[in-house]
Amino acid sequence: MSQPLVRLTYASTATFQSDIKGGIESEVARVLLESRRNNPKANLGGVLHFGNGYFFQCLEGPRDQVNRVYQKISQDTRHRNVQVLSTQSVDQRLFNDWSMKYLPLEENLSRLLKTHGQKAFDPYGLDDTTIDALLYACVNGVDPVAELGQPSADQSDNALTAWWKKLFQRRK
Ligand SMILES: Cc1cc2nc3c(=O)[nH]c(=O)nc-3n(C[C@H](O)[C@H](O)[C@H](O)COP(=O)(O)O)c2cc1C
Repeated sequence: MSQPLVRLTYASTATFQSDIKGGIESEVARVLLESRRNNPKANLGGVLHFGNGYFFQCLEGPRDQVNRVYQKISQDTRHRNVQVLSTQSVDQRLFNDWSMKYLPLEENLSRLLKTHGQKAFDPYGLDDTTIDALLYACVNGVDPVAELGQPSADQSDNALTAWWKKLFQRRK
């Protein structure tokens, strides 16, 4: 029998200094590359949200895989104070087409969070209703990394350019 499908969300605080390349934090780009390389093999999907120095991530997939990858992620030194916000068994995935969708904090998400009482994005304070609202907004949000194509900035950095190319490959 196949394993139950679960959805886990957590909050964490970035430990790296800001270094924006091609419109995205380079550490976040690395995280996305790793996620988009690894997650399809583990049948995992979800969304990664970064804003105000905080991460909010949703992982969806078979329970053991979600637990295994969450354990690995929680040891990662690029963030600290990693706290599970919610875990639930689900019948269906929200992020079907994504091994890891990326959404930065931008205007409409900020607006949504304001309607839930958050002046500045702080994922540790999210209640279940706001988590659900944020996730549904993330489903519909446009991933700028997927849409932009190859970034114009820092073309000289071959390694980074190669990462970008991989980053744009959406899971089929
Ligand atoms: C905020 C954050 C989210 C991450 N999300 C994922 C993820 O969804 N999948 C994944 O494989 N690694 C993720 N990582 C990276 C892992 O912690 C780890 O560095 C990576 O999986 C190692 O990949 P490797 O075993 O292929 O070297 C994340 C790291 C951070 C800081």
